[in-house]
Amino acid sequence: MKVTVNRKAHFNAAHRLYNPNWDDAKNKEVYGKCSNPHYHGHNYELIVSVRGEIDPETGFVMNLDVLRRIIEVEVEDYLDHKNLNIEVEEFKTLNPTAENIVIVIWNKIKAKLDQGLDLKVTLYETPRNFVEYSGD
Ligand code: NI
Repeated sequence: MKVTVNRKAHFNAAHRLYNPNWDDAKNKEVYGKCSNPHYHGHNYELIVSVRGEIDPETGFVMNLDVLRRIIEVEVEDYLDHKNLNIEVEEFKTLNPTAENIVIVIWNKIKAKLDQGLDLKVTLYETPRNFVEYSGD
């Protein structure tokens, strides 16, 4: 019997979506306001979902306080109040779309979880636009 436990989190960050192989007009056409050369911010919300067997000793899939701490270090300390393009190593060469951000977050959290636990991360860039990644 597998159960999914979830934890919500939040960070604010600035970005600019930009493909260096295109001119400014094409970037504006594809990314709209998100290609603003002066950057802009989003209030990102995420749901971190961990699925696994219940440990018969603790009754937990995983201790949510441990998960809280992993998210604090790997996501909030790493991304909150940052300019993603300039200050976050991965996005110096990777366009900081929600799709790419969710993969970076997933990789960082996954590396801290016990083996045998499945991870899904859901990232909201706006209240209505969100992406999910489960590692495939
Ligand atoms: Ni944007």
